[in-house]
Amino acid sequence: MCGIVGYVGSSADGKALDVVLEGLARLEYRGYDSAGVALVDGDHVSTRKKAGKLANLRAVLEEQPLEASSTGIGHTRWATHGGPTDANAHPHRGGTDGKLAVIHNGIIENFHSLKGELLDEGVAFASETDTEVVAQLLARAYDGDLTEAMRSVVARLEGAFTLLAVHADAPDVVVGARRNSPLVVGLGDGENFLGSDVAAFIGYTRNALELEQDQIVTITPAGATVVNFDGTPAQGKAFEVTWDAAAAEKGGYDTFMEKEIHEQPHAVGDTLLGRTDEDGHLVLDELRISEQQLKDIDRITIVACGTAAYAGMVAKYAIEHWTRIPVEVALAHEFRYCEPIVSERTLVVSISQSGETMDTLMAVKHARDLGALTVSVCNTHGSTIPRESDAVLYTHAGPEIAVASTKAFLAQITACYVLGLYLAQLRGGSYADDAAAVLKELHQVPGKIEQLLGSMGRVREIARFMADTRSVLFLGRHVGYPVAMEGALKLKELAYIHAEGFAAGELKHGPIALIEPGQPVFIVVPGPDTPHGLHGKVVSNIQEIRARGARTLVIAQEGDTAVEPFADEIIRVPATSPMLAPLLTVVPLQVFALHLSTAKGLDVDQPRNLAKSVTVE
Ligand code: G6P
Repeated sequence: MCGIVGYVGSSADGKALDVVLEGLARLEYRGYDSAGVALVDGDHVSTRKKAGKLANLRAVLEEQPLEASSTGIGHTRWATHGGPTDANAHPHRGGTDGKLAVIHNGIIENFHSLKGELLDEGVAFASETDTEVVAQLLARAYDGDLTEAMRSVVARLEGAFTLLAVHADAPDVVVGARRNSPLVVGLGDGENFLGSDVAAFIGYTRNALELEQDQIVTITPAGATVVNFDGTPAQGKAFEVTWDAAAAEKGGYDTFMEKEIHEQPHAVGDTLLGRTDEDGHLVLDELRISEQQLKDIDRITIVACGTAAYAGMVAKYAIEHWTRIPVEVALAHEFRYCEPIVSERTLVVSISQSGETMDTLMAVKHARDLGALTVSVCNTHGSTIPRESDAVLYTHAGPEIAVASTKAFLAQITACYVLGLYLAQLRGGSYADDAAAVLKELHQVPGKIEQLLGSMGRVREIARFMADTRSVLFLGRHVGYPVAMEGALKLKELAYIHAEGFAAGELKHGPIALIEPGQPVFIVVPGPDTPHGLHGKVVSNIQEIRARGARTLVIAQEGDTAVEPFADEIIRVPATSPMLAPLLTVVPLQVFALHLSTAKGLDVDQPRNLAKSVTVE
């Protein structure tokens, strides 16, 4: 939520604006309600800002160019306090001399009382934001040392925030502060960077520094200095970004989402890579939890939000099946505020692409406070949730830019399978021997996704024909149930169409009342080999809705002829064992949502009201 960039470089180059705009373009997926920049310009700081997407800011900069500068900050906003207007766009100024500007991600929870104090002292405000309060406090605290001023101001702030500030009297300095909100440092040669994530500076350097919570970083062209909020010196943890700038570009596709859908074979394959020995056994050295502790686990709770929570639901079926450990899936924001039953024998698995989702972060902290073991399944190195967890299992999906998650979802499911199979292997029991066979099959899934992606022509056509549809339902059972919900979520997010996913067995307990002639319903059919006769039960469910006039869009395995008499459309997926099926069955639903959104002329990568990384509660 909100993208933040800071830059200092050599005055000879004066390229701050270019660097900041490039960073904002790469971070725009974090929020696109407004964008703005501030550059140090002689004895003052110049700002330009505009409501709407980055293109609007670029238009303003064409009309009112800025002088070249070597120090700047930039912001792309997802509005919380105050509507998405020009006035509320960041940067915000502090003081009356035009020397100081601030950008901010997060929420200052006590801003109201701080603002009241400042108003009493006669300070005038130009916006409705909580950020401007910080800018005003900072201007008043500044006494020749921007880092010290920041330190004294953050001591007064409650809530979660990343703040960046520049001051004209400190022309080669950008100061950043973070509490429960993302900020990473990029280390260049004679130039340094700050960003909400590494995408902000990936075009310039792959050398980065992780910061801890409650730290302040000061960058100059010569380096980066870190101190804790209490003033004690600190050091960031250096890491190298493993992907390059091209990974964060569209690479010939019209949209990031389309590119990311096509990267799914790699996302799954790379997440499996290097995690087995030559005998086919899983080796997870990266899990810094002892084998004994893992053997002692008697309960698993998965916490996540959005698409990641659906990955967690798929994982529940698989992990329980392979390990016989009870698994519960909780939406992170609900887990945090109920009274979860966890002990030191509970493994709390968080799933998060960004590693920054505030609700998930808070759930992890809560679980740790209650004594649980915590493992993070995460796609973003240097992010907060893995750092706050006992262990991390990285997904290797590469940067996901489109707001609606696709390849990260498949990588999350894959990583959860790996975790479940590893636990099965470690703990013995009836499924330990099967683990190697499942793993072997999992390695064939990337090829099957590739094959599936090559046969999506009919799905694209169906999507185009359905551009005027007002409501679509999705049914699934077992691991197909979370797939149905993910299919519905994709459609809501991308095409703004009413969509709901149901457990097919629940249909007759209410939702079937929604079926009227012509109602389109996707049905995710389990493979014919699925235990407990589930395949037959779903075929019956298809007949029940068809009898009431539904238009049935059936996702079924190749060779499944039983569905043919009851399907208005059949979308075929390659056959695989029941537990692994979600890695295939969700793909046509992603492609469907993508093309329906395109057919409606909507912005696929940046749907309205959404943000990729939700860093507020
Ligand atoms: C936002 C995104 C979703 C994502 C969810 C969880 O709502 O738009 O695509 O699934 O956050 O994000 P995370 O980074 O924790 O996986």
